[in-house]
Amino acid sequence: MQTKLKGKHFITTQDWTVQELKTLFELAKRLKVEYAAGKFHRNLQGKSLGMIFFDPSTRTRTSFEAAMTQLGGHSIFFAPQTMQISHGEGAVDTAKVLSGYLQGIAVRFCAYGEGNRYLEELRAASRVPIVNMQCDIYHPAQILADYFTITEHFGENTRGLKLGVSWTSAPNYIRPLSVPQSLILMMPRFGIDVTLAHPPEFELMPEVVEQAKKNAEEAGVKFEISHKMEDAFEDADVVIPKSWGPLVYTQNEREGLKLIEKYPGWVADEKRMSLTKPHSLYMHPLPADRGKEVTPGVIDGPHSVVYQEAENRLHVQKALLSLIL
Ligand code: CP
Repeated sequence: MQTKLKGKHFITTQDWTVQELKTLFELAKRLKVEYAAGKFHRNLQGKSLGMIFFDPSTRTRTSFEAAMTQLGGHSIFFAPQTMQISHGEGAVDTAKVLSGYLQGIAVRFCAYGEGNRYLEELRAASRVPIVNMQCDIYHPAQILADYFTITEHFGENTRGLKLGVSWTSAPNYIRPLSVPQSLILMMPRFGIDVTLAHPPEFELMPEVVEQAKKNAEEAGVKFEISHKMEDAFEDADVVIPKSWGPLVYTQNEREGLKLIEKYPGWVADEKRMSLTKPHSLYMHPLPADRGKEVTPGVIDGPHSVVYQEAENRLHVQKALLSLIL
């Protein structure tokens, strides 16, 4: 167990060792049980977390705010248009000033090519930990909840499990690459074999894929990429099918939306779920586009653990904040 984590940034799980992540999961488990027993904590009393949301959120905002409250701390919600960011104040001044008031700065900024860069600029200038609440490259808090949910069903030894991460066709807007990228990076480090499936135009960032391959090699697990959705489902213990944009291929929004419509058959449906193992889990970070990327029979069916997964955001983030603030 590695417990000296005060002040540690949380921008990607790559910056955390497996031992450090295990410490976090152990604490999350305890906090979840204590929450069920009605036990609240005061370990963050007097501490404040600033949360800047460049993009909308239901789960992330609510779970981080509730986490701070339940630990005796306080959170401040910022919309950039209500800050001097809207008049051009840069990341360095924002970080230096907010570091003087707060014990942590959390940010969601998903604009492709901008979000992670902004977080890194904050990190370089901040005297308090920077927490990534989703950027264009990573969504690490989501993946903590995903892994924690998997361990609740399969136990803490996850070596040998197969996870299928698949693209799905969800219209109307371009979703970031951050969830599948964070999944392929972290899951192999915990011994999980990963199959990633997507149409050719929906590849992930090459440098992230290279790092995921390296992580898998170091952990002695499989990491495969396919252009056939069924390959992610075949014999899987867990499937996480969700949509993302063809952002590596094109950043033209209209072209991206047309490409999503090119593959309407990429749906998580009962037929594909029947390819998975009998005890398999269907997971999705939500929001899901019901009836488009997933059938109601799957998302509301016996394999689905999407609400447990969403609730676990609270518990893993309480552990994260307790350790770093
Ligand atoms: N999964 C997730 O991050 O949900 P929100 O966009 O609602 O925060």
